[in-house]
Amino acid sequence: MRTLIKNIKGLYQVEDNKKMAVCGSAMAELPCIENAYIIVENGLIKDFGKMCDLKDTNADKVYNAHNRYVLPTFCDSHTHLVYAGSREIEYIDKIKGLSYEQIAQRGGGIVNSAIRLQQTDEQKLYEDAMQRIDSMIKHGTGAIEIKSGYGFTTEAELKMLRVIRKIKENSPATIKANFLGAHGVPMEYRGRQSEFVDLVINEMIPRVADEGLADFIDVFCDRGFFTVEETDRMLFEGVKHGLKPKIHANELAKSGGIQVGVKYNALSVDHIEHTGEEEMEVLKASQTMPTILPGAAFFLNMPYAPARAMMEYGLPVAMASDFNPGSSPSGNMQLILTFACVNYKLTPQEAINATTINSAYAMDVVDSCGSICRGKKANFYITKEIPTIEYIPYYYGENKVDKVFLNGVEQ
Ligand code: NIG
Ligand code: FE
Repeated sequence: MRTLIKNIKGLYQVEDNKKMAVCGSAMAELPCIENAYIIVENGLIKDFGKMCDLKDTNADKVYNAHNRYVLPTFCDSHTHLVYAGSREIEYIDKIKGLSYEQIAQRGGGIVNSAIRLQQTDEQKLYEDAMQRIDSMIKHGTGAIEIKSGYGFTTEAELKMLRVIRKIKENSPATIKANFLGAHGVPMEYRGRQSEFVDLVINEMIPRVADEGLADFIDVFCDRGFFTVEETDRMLFEGVKHGLKPKIHANELAKSGGIQVGVKYNALSVDHIEHTGEEEMEVLKASQTMPTILPGAAFFLNMPYAPARAMMEYGLPVAMASDFNPGSSPSGNMQLILTFACVNYKLTPQEAINATTINSAYAMDVVDSCGSICRGKKANFYITKEIPTIEYIPYYYGENKVDKVFLNGVEQ
C-alpha cells in the first residue's frame, strides 16, 4: 500500500537523520519543507521532499494538501486516561478555595478515583478509555503513555494494567504502559505508609513484571505523598525487574524527586514546577527529560515550571497533557501548545518540539515517532486550511487538525 500526499504548503519537523531530542536554543528551530510531498509505504514514511523533486507519482491513494500543513502527530508522554467516573465536584471545592492537597487529605482526589476504579469492570474501563483516545487521535495525538495508579490494591492495579494492555493491542496509537502503584496512600494505610511501600515492592512490582504488564515504573515523589527514601526503594526494585523509571516530581515542593529520578536514570521527571538551579544542574548531567504538564498547572492554578530558564540552561523540555480526572481533565495537545505559548512563553516552534520529538524521547518511542523521518511510523496529521502553523496555538479551543494518519492509515 502506497500513499502520496502532495502539494503540502509546509511539511514540518522533518529530519534526514534521527535525533534523540532537541535541547535549549535549538528548540526554536522547526525544520520545514515548503510545497512538499510525503510518501507512505507499508505504514512507514518512505520518502518526502519538495514537489519539484517528486518523480514517482504512482500511489494507491493520493491526497491533495493544498493550503494545508503536515506535522508529526503529538506524543503525549504522561496520561492517566484509564479512570472511572469524573471529579467535577472536587473542581467546585477547588473553586471555593480548597487546595489539591487538602482535598487529597480528606479522602478526595486520587483516593476517590481509586474507590470508583475498584468498583468498575475491565470492559467499562476499556470502552471509556478508548473513547477518550479516539478524541485525542482526532485532535492529532499518535502516541500515548498511560499510567496505572488508581488501583491501590494489587488486584485493581493489575486490572488497570490489563486494560492498558488491551488498549495497546487494539488502538492504532502507539501505547506505553506505566506502573504507578505509588500514586497515593490508601486510607487503610494512613499512618503506616511504609507498609504500603512494602506492598508495592514485595507484591505489586513482581506481579506486574511477571505478567509483562508495564514498560515503566512511576512514583508520586512529593510533599504529602511519597518521600525520596520511599521512592528510592521502589525505583530500585522496579529497575531490578526491568521497568524504566519516569516519575512525578517537584509538583508541590522541592521534593528531591528530580535528584532521585536522575539517580535511577529516569526517562523523564514530570511536573517539576519547583525547579531551581540545583535541579537544573543535576538534569544537565543526565539523560532524563524534564517534562512539564501545562494542563495541570493551569487547572490547579499552580506556579509554572521555569521552562525558559531550563532552555536557557541548555536543557531540552518536553510537554504532555497529564490527562486525568483530577488535575487535568483534557487530552487535547493543541491546548497544551496554547498553554506552552501563553503561560510559559514558548514560541509555537518550541512548543511543537516539546510535544513531538522531546515527548517521544520521554516515552521511549523516539526511534519510531516524533518527527517526519524516513523509516519512522507514518504518524502525522494534515491541518485544516489555516494561514500559518502559529495559528494552531493561537486559535485555541478549535480543532485545527483535519486528517490524522497512524501507521499510514487515515483515522
Ligand atoms: O499528574 N500528581 C499526581 N497525579 C496526577 C493527578 C491525578 C489525580 O488527581 O487524579 C497528576 O496530576
Ligand atoms: Fe500525572
